[in-house]
Amino acid sequence: MRRPFVAGNWKMNLDLATGRALVSELRTRLPASPPIDVAICPPHIYLFPMAKAVADTPIRLGAQNCFHESSGAFTGEVSAAMVKETGCTYVILGHSERRHTIGPKDASGRVQGETDAMIAAKCRAAMSAGLVPIVCVGETLEERDRDQTEAVLSRQIDGSLAGIALDGPEKLVIAYEPVWAIGTGRNATPEQAQAAHRHLRGRLAERFGRGMADGIRIQYGGSVKPDNAITLMKEADVDGALVGGASLKASDFAGIIEGCIRAKGL
Ligand code: PGA
Repeated sequence: MRRPFVAGNWKMNLDLATGRALVSELRTRLPASPPIDVAICPPHIYLFPMAKAVADTPIRLGAQNCFHESSGAFTGEVSAAMVKETGCTYVILGHSERRHTIGPKDASGRVQGETDAMIAAKCRAAMSAGLVPIVCVGETLEERDRDQTEAVLSRQIDGSLAGIALDGPEKLVIAYEPVWAIGTGRNATPEQAQAAHRHLRGRLAERFGRGMADGIRIQYGGSVKPDNAITLMKEADVDGALVGGASLKASDFAGIIEGCIRAKGL
């Protein structure tokens, strides 16, 4: 059985004092050894202090990005080894905001963010540094409306994992995050999430073999809240959640973790 995994993506939110307060409240709300994996992903600049804050808790640390080169003249970038050195276990890669929100706009106003090829290079760097990448994929509303969801997910999985050799299913996490559900309050229905996760697992099986694919955790992300966590997590191929907004409040994040534990009968 896959061990469920709930991660909180703080994005560019909170300050150091509030982050510390959030961790200390989480510590009181979470079981001492939860039957699922839990992580927080603060901004890079807070990774060292947050590593200290979570040191004697079951909470693991993740970063929100890393660069694909190992060192050199890349002003402002942070390598996978540097991220690892802060104490991170995970790194989120290819988040939809990095694909579609952050970056220069083309003539038609579309943001030219990270491509699958860039994400694959980062993924290879992260794995070589001993980090577990959380690779995000997900269709836009326009793509869903045009019935392109499965084609987009296949393309993103193939492209974002190009050149990746996997020697264990625990070395990779996928997050299905439909772009139209992120920060919008509009989550996918459990059926929509399950269908997408099932499709993704099938693609992972083609890529890495069925045994490996059956062990890879696939998180759902997009407006996960304590009150929708249980029904989403009850779906067979939904192995946890990547939580944005609701991870900034200890009671909500703990409620989602609790919901995941209950939904999986742990
Ligand atoms: P949200 O964000 O929970 O605020 O929708 C999820 C994510 O972007 O990881």
